[in-house]
Amino acid sequence: MLASDKLIEAFNQQIGNEMGASLQYIAIASYFDSETLPQLARFFYRQSAEEREHAMRFVKFINDVGGKVKIPALPAPESDFASAEEAVSRALSSEENVTRQIYDLVEIAKADKNYVGVRFLDWFVEEQLEEVTAMNDLLAVIRRAGADRLLFVEEYLVRQGAPGLESSAAPSGVP
Ligand SMILES: [Fe+2]
Ligand SMILES: [Fe+2]
Repeated sequence: MLASDKLIEAFNQQIGNEMGASLQYIAIASYFDSETLPQLARFFYRQSAEEREHAMRFVKFINDVGGKVKIPALPAPESDFASAEEAVSRALSSEENVTRQIYDLVEIAKADKNYVGVRFLDWFVEEQLEEVTAMNDLLAVIRRAGADRLLFVEEYLVRQGAPGLESSAAPSGVP
C-alpha cells in the first residue's frame, strides 16, 4: 500500500467532510429555492455537485494507492436559516473549516513523506482559496444589498456567469 493507515483514515474522514459539505449546500440551495431566489439556489446546487466531486477525488486516491474506502457517518446539515446572510455565513464557515481540514491533511502527508499525497492535496489548497474568496465576496454583496434587495444579488450572480463567483470578481454596479 502506497499510503500509511493514518493517511488513509484521514482521507476517509475527508470523504465524509466533503460529502457533508455537499449535503449542507443542498440544504442552503433549497432555502434559496423556497425564497424564490433561483440564481442563489443554482449557485449552491452547483457547489453541492462540486463537493461531491471533491469527495470522489479522495475515493479515487484511496483506491489508487490500494487503501480501503470506508465512508464515515455524516452529520445532518443545518436546514433552518433566518436570512440569506445567515445561510451564506454558514457556507463561509463551512469552507473555512474545510480549509483547516485540508491543511491538516497536508501535515499528515508531509510527516509520512507521502509526496504523491502532498501533490494530490495541492489542488485542494488552491481550490479552498477560491472557495473561501467566493463565499466572502457573496456574503459582502448580500450585506451590501440588504435583506429587501436580494434581487440585486441575483443580478450579481447572473453577471458573474454561470459557474460561480470568480475569486477576483469586483462586484461593480451593485449598490
Ligand atoms: Fe470541497
Ligand atoms: Fe468547498
